[in-house]
Amino acid sequence: TTNGPRGQSCVINIKCLNAISINDRQSENGGEEDTVDPWNVATNSAKGVDYDKLIVRFGSSKIDQELVDRIEKVSGQKPHRFLRRGIFFSHRDMNQVLDAYEKQKSFYLYTGRGPSSQAMHVGHLIPFVFTKWLQDVFDIPLVIQLTDDEKYLWKDLSLEDCHRFAEENAKDIIACGFDVNKTFIFSDLDYMGSSPEFYRNVVKVQKHVTFNQVKGIFGFSDSDCIGKISFPAIQAAPAFSSSFPQIFKGRKDVQCLIPCAIDQDPYFRMTRDVAPRIGYPKPALLHSTFFPALQGAQTKMSASDANSSIFLTDTPKQIKNKVNKHAFSGGKDTIEEHREQGGNPDIDVAFMYLTFFMEDDEQLEKIRQDYTSGILLTGELKKMLIETLQPMITAHQENRKNVTDEMVKQFMTPRPLNFNF
Ligand code: TYM
Repeated sequence: TTNGPRGQSCVINIKCLNAISINDRQSENGGEEDTVDPWNVATNSAKGVDYDKLIVRFGSSKIDQELVDRIEKVSGQKPHRFLRRGIFFSHRDMNQVLDAYEKQKSFYLYTGRGPSSQAMHVGHLIPFVFTKWLQDVFDIPLVIQLTDDEKYLWKDLSLEDCHRFAEENAKDIIACGFDVNKTFIFSDLDYMGSSPEFYRNVVKVQKHVTFNQVKGIFGFSDSDCIGKISFPAIQAAPAFSSSFPQIFKGRKDVQCLIPCAIDQDPYFRMTRDVAPRIGYPKPALLHSTFFPALQGAQTKMSASDANSSIFLTDTPKQIKNKVNKHAFSGGKDTIEEHREQGGNPDIDVAFMYLTFFMEDDEQLEKIRQDYTSGILLTGELKKMLIETLQPMITAHQENRKNVTDEMVKQFMTPRPLNFNF
């Protein structure tokens, strides 16, 4: 959601952390590769990023039906729609987490948000909605990092603004329904200075990653400020349980599972590379696809482009107008043509959004078939989306209104959680 380190994007190396050229963009078959990094998501395909190719490039593993079935078996719950529909599509070491869990070995969840503005968009909800489900079904601790320091380093914002946005964003996160007895939310600007254990882990990571490596992973250059160059160690530290002695009673070996969109993977490839060298388990990961921009799946929804996004602060009227005006349609130009040839749900943004938020699998499948055959028109499909989004966002706003400053303080105070470690 921010500019690239130098206003450009870099391609990330896969299995090793060697530096590679930013111009090294040709895929094996000679075509342009999709760009996916913490700052940019771009593809030429109207269907969106080629996620299967990304798995190969990043060296992660596909979440296949077997793994979804296993999560169902181990958790005893119907898999979340994000799992059923391949929205969480890639992982690292999830089987290891499940193996251990079956042997009564607990784990914890870690996710985060870079508070670059007051307004979060619906795309930002994806990892939090899924994390809440994981917390509920596995009954485990959760830590949420708000990287106000990162946003200060990358954006033209004051430290005070970034810190204020962290507290505002915390309200949106709390509104997703997290349990205060199981969740610790922290601002880096506050927690780093108050936790010697956290800072020790930051320094350990810093010692084990060279400038050459972060250049290769993140595309930093000689003119980037040194804050950016050392920041990845701060996003790595929460993946180690000893960073939270108040929760894990000094234990270093509690396995971490990180749900996030795949743009954050570069941070955690670095973290996983370092972990064994500083005596910690590698964090496991669950990666999601991107919630597309209204204009189409060539890029992700981004807070810096108001017209590309549905914000959590939008009114029902704004939602209706944005969807009707901006949502890219896979329908045909005229009703006659559409009835005759049908629409293309694979490139239709309204349909894609429904796959994220409509719970009923059968209803969704019927919409897909009716749109493809031409029975359902673009206007009707958009109306269904509007009617799905409006109550969802209104309910979120109601929940957020009930989050008091006192509650934010409670979530953000370092304290033991309701778990025995
Ligand atoms: P940020 O604020 O850019 O994004 C917060 C979370 O939302 C995901 N995300 C999306 N998911 C689906 N569709 C989209 N269009 C979309 N846009 C963003 C991101 O992948 C992320 O999970 N540096 C991080 C903050 C962070 C963090 C973490 C994130 C710190 N520690 C651990 C995940 C896990 C950031 O700026 O996220």
